[in-house]
Amino acid sequence: MAPAKHDVVSIADLAPALPAILARADAMKRARHHGDLSRTRPGTNLAMIFEKASTRTRTSFEVAMQDLGGHALYMSSHDLQLGRGETIGDTARVLSRYVDAIAYRAYRSADMRALADAASVPVINALDDREHPCQIVADLLTLFERWRGRFAGRSVAYIGDGNNVLNSLLLGAAIVGLNIVAATPKAYRPPADIVRAAEGWAKRTGSTVRLTESPAEAATGADALYTDVWVSMGDEGEKAAREAAFQGYQVNAALVALASPDVWVLHDLPAHRGQEITDDVMDGPRAAIWDQAENRLHAQKAILEHLLPATPSRGH
Ligand code: CP
Ligand code: NVA
Repeated sequence: MAPAKHDVVSIADLAPALPAILARADAMKRARHHGDLSRTRPGTNLAMIFEKASTRTRTSFEVAMQDLGGHALYMSSHDLQLGRGETIGDTARVLSRYVDAIAYRAYRSADMRALADAASVPVINALDDREHPCQIVADLLTLFERWRGRFAGRSVAYIGDGNNVLNSLLLGAAIVGLNIVAATPKAYRPPADIVRAAEGWAKRTGSTVRLTESPAEAATGADALYTDVWVSMGDEGEKAAREAAFQGYQVNAALVALASPDVWVLHDLPAHRGQEITDDVMDGPRAAIWDQAENRLHAQKAILEHLLPATPSRGH
């Protein structure tokens, strides 16, 4: 019998399995480096609907499915009938008859929810305006492998926009017991309900969640520094106001110097070099950014393995 449908709209949908998913991703990464691709989901199919551009997410999902012995189908929303007015619900119902899971990159979290509600197969959030869960699983994997799986007592400081990446990072850090502090301008704080949910998880895992407006205060003593773009996809109309508001929210050598000497610098990419992060930090010895990008592949393999049936059902 097929397992119950399990969507990953939020990174919280992966709790409490998240530590096990990280361990499995780490094991599959090491196996892959020795030539073992972990072909554990043969014959499965993943549809990927993209409303926005992507380099890493698209490629890592495609290679992940290929590794697992399955297949990924890339669909730009412009090429689907979705772009001509077919509803999200009808698209979900039809795709569910062909594939075993759907990854969706959406502008609006309401559309992500609508797809998940109508699909009878798992829906994976490949980024929307509220969360970017698969990214944060890769980010936690990057720290997991550097810290030998131990998050307790360590801290990540996020500097910049209170956006989709920060929302998933707040939840993901709290779920695994990693202390998090986020420095954002007041007008760009993460949503209160996300902060409350993260605080709830932190209480259970014995970690802390803190917000500040001061990048220096956040960075001081941090074990990891994380930043993301000031202007996310969909926010282009606010570019000038955002670039003004985020002056000072830059991960540069002076900020890195305030952190732990063993700090790891993370960025989900694409980066705007010279804005939220400087060249010397991105290309410097404390950056874990390229491993972080690679880890999208290993993290998603573990997520897909968690969601996809070992033997795909061919009836409805
Ligand atoms: N980090 C990330 O999601 O990159 P892409 O937009 O290239 O997929
Ligand atoms: N916050 C960024 C992340 C890109 C991967 C955006 O939504 O555009």
